[in-house]
Amino acid sequence: MNLAEYHPLFTDNLQVVNIELGAGCGNFGQIYYPECFITDMETKSKLDEICTNHFVTISCDARNIPCESNRFKNIIMCNPYGYGFKDRRDYTFLNELYRVSLNEANIIILTSGVNRFATPDKVKIRIKDYNLEHSTTRFMFDYQEIDSEKDYEGYNFFTTNRRKTFPKFKIALKCLKA
Ligand SMILES: C[S@@+](CC[C@H](N)C(=O)[O-])C[C@H]1O[C@@H](n2cnc3c(N)ncnc32)[C@H](O)[C@@H]1O
Repeated sequence: MNLAEYHPLFTDNLQVVNIELGAGCGNFGQIYYPECFITDMETKSKLDEICTNHFVTISCDARNIPCESNRFKNIIMCNPYGYGFKDRRDYTFLNELYRVSLNEANIIILTSGVNRFATPDKVKIRIKDYNLEHSTTRFMFDYQEIDSEKDYEGYNFFTTNRRKTFPKFKIALKCLKA
C-alpha cells in the first residue's frame, strides 16, 4: 500500500509529531498536546453515529499505525480498551509503539486502577518483560496518581459504553532508541 496516497496527513504534515490513539469521541491530544493527530479504530461514519461530536482524522488500529517508522514525539492514549497491555508475551502493541516513536518519545497513558488493558502494575510488568526480551531498555516506566477532574477540568473521558470515567493514573513511558 502506498501510505502517502492512503494517509497523506501522516506523511505530508511532518511538523505534527504527536498522535492520540483510541480517541473515540474525544480530542485530549489536540487540547493538551497540540498539534496532534486524533485516531481511533472505529470508522469515521461509525463515530458520526455514536458521538455527538468527534475529531478523528484517521481511523487506524493502534497496533498497526499506517505511517513510517521514527515518526512521533508524543503518543497519547486515554483509557485504552480493546488494545494495550493485557496479554502477557503479546508484544504487538509495544513493538508498534517502539517502531513509530522517535528516540526519547513520550508515551502518555491515562488510565484507571481497574482497566485490565493498562493498570500501572500491568504496564510496569509488560515493560520489564519487553526490555528483558530485547536485552536493553527500550522503554523506561514511570507513573503518578492524578486528579483528572482537577488536572483536566472540563474534559470528559468515556468508557467504551459511553459512561463517564475519571482516570486515576498517568503512566509515562520514555522510548530509548540510541
Ligand atoms: C474506553 S474508550 C476511550 C475513549 C477515549 N480515549 C476517552 O478516554 O474518552 C476506548 C476507545 O478505544 C478504541 N479502540 C479499541 N480498540 C482499538 C484499537 N485496536 N486501536 C485503536 N483504537 C481502539 C475504541 O473504539 C474506543 O473509542
